[in-house]
Amino acid sequence: MKFSAAAFALASAISVEGAALGERGTYSVKGAAEGFAKGVTGGGSAPCAVPSSPSQLKSWLGDNVARCIVLDKEYNFKGSEGSVTENGCRPASNKCPGNGGQDAINLASWCTNGNAGVGSKTIKVTYDKAGISGLLVGSNKSIIGAGNKGVLRGKGLRIANGAKNVIVQNIHITELNPQFIWGGDALAIDGSDQVWVDHNKFSLIGRQMLVLGNGASNRVTVSNNEFDGVTSWSATCDGHHYWAIYLTGSNDMVTLKGNYIHHTSGRSPKTGGNSLIHAVNNYWYANTGHAFDNGAGSQIVAEGNVFQNVNTPLLEKKGSFFASPSTGANAVCSASLKHTCQMNSFGSSGTLGGADTGFLANFAGKNVATAQVGSASAIQNGSGVGRI
Ligand SMILES: *[C@@H]1O[C@H](CO)[C@@H](O)[C@H](O)[C@H]1NC(C)=O
Ligand SMILES: *[C@@H]1O[C@H](CO)[C@@H](O)[C@H](O)[C@H]1NC(C)=O
Repeated sequence: MKFSAAAFALASAISVEGAALGERGTYSVKGAAEGFAKGVTGGGSAPCAVPSSPSQLKSWLGDNVARCIVLDKEYNFKGSEGSVTENGCRPASNKCPGNGGQDAINLASWCTNGNAGVGSKTIKVTYDKAGISGLLVGSNKSIIGAGNKGVLRGKGLRIANGAKNVIVQNIHITELNPQFIWGGDALAIDGSDQVWVDHNKFSLIGRQMLVLGNGASNRVTVSNNEFDGVTSWSATCDGHHYWAIYLTGSNDMVTLKGNYIHHTSGRSPKTGGNSLIHAVNNYWYANTGHAFDNGAGSQIVAEGNVFQNVNTPLLEKKGSFFASPSTGANAVCSASLKHTCQMNSFGSSGTLGGADTGFLANFAGKNVATAQVGSASAIQNGSGVGRI
């Protein structure tokens, strides 16, 4: 048997950092990004290693060293920054029986600037402070989960301030003050380039599961993730999470492919800024409100997606939207996306609509994901953690 020097170095790095690893030396990013973030390398050839504690994880994420960081267990940040009790509000929209539903923390003055609506009430809220700000992630990082064991509890990730070339694969981010609007974002990207978010799961999040803020996040691929909206603190009083995906960057190109987005009731996604979005082969299931809320400025191609039990696939259409309306019309995609767009499919759902084509030329020369006929079972089976 022959061992390469690189494999030996990798195995020793892991054995130093992690105890009792069953799959010693086998960790690596799986596959490669397609679509806009194609070419992302994350930590590249840096040896993979397991942080021994939440504080070591925090320091490895934020430093200036190219790293492959393996989560082989739960990293629990709940309580690590203490709790806060202060005035928040019960927004006017929260008419849920028994004071259920989602109340709000007064971040961004949301409770006091009118956003909470006429009839909102000031109430005391107590929340976990760690949840409301994400762990800062620097450039050149791969953050990967081992099997289905990599869990980040109580705190999300923030890839911002120019951090570039980051891969987040196969981890579950959960329990960020789910009872409160503004309780925390699972994954925030704001001012970045080449980010690949693949095979992760998001659940029980107070605010957005994924948010691309107003800065320019450039090339981003979001693939094969599970957005699980099941919650006991629904802003819409029906067990479904309202605040799922928010894409309003100022120069963002986002590929959304193979994601399973279920039990949400709005903002799945909300779009705006001047985001160019390719939504392909995603599966929306059991959405009691809307999937797309297409704000002014965004440009969206939706193809090969499956909508099952989705009340309103498209809420407003202020931006440009090509909904792949018919096999004849879909040939127009070929010139810029290099394939004929695939039809979307709908079961017990509203309609999509949108035949804008003027913006399709903006896909020309970019890395564009391929499209298949959408299959709900294949997308569901292939998304989330422990599935690669
Ligand atoms: C990230 O990697 C690239 C390519 O190796 C390098 O040029 C850049 O300086 C790195 N950035 C940081 C912050 O280490
Ligand atoms: C489900 O996903 C696994 C990989 O996690 C794959 O091996 C299997 O073939 C898939 N099954 C179906 C029915 O798609």
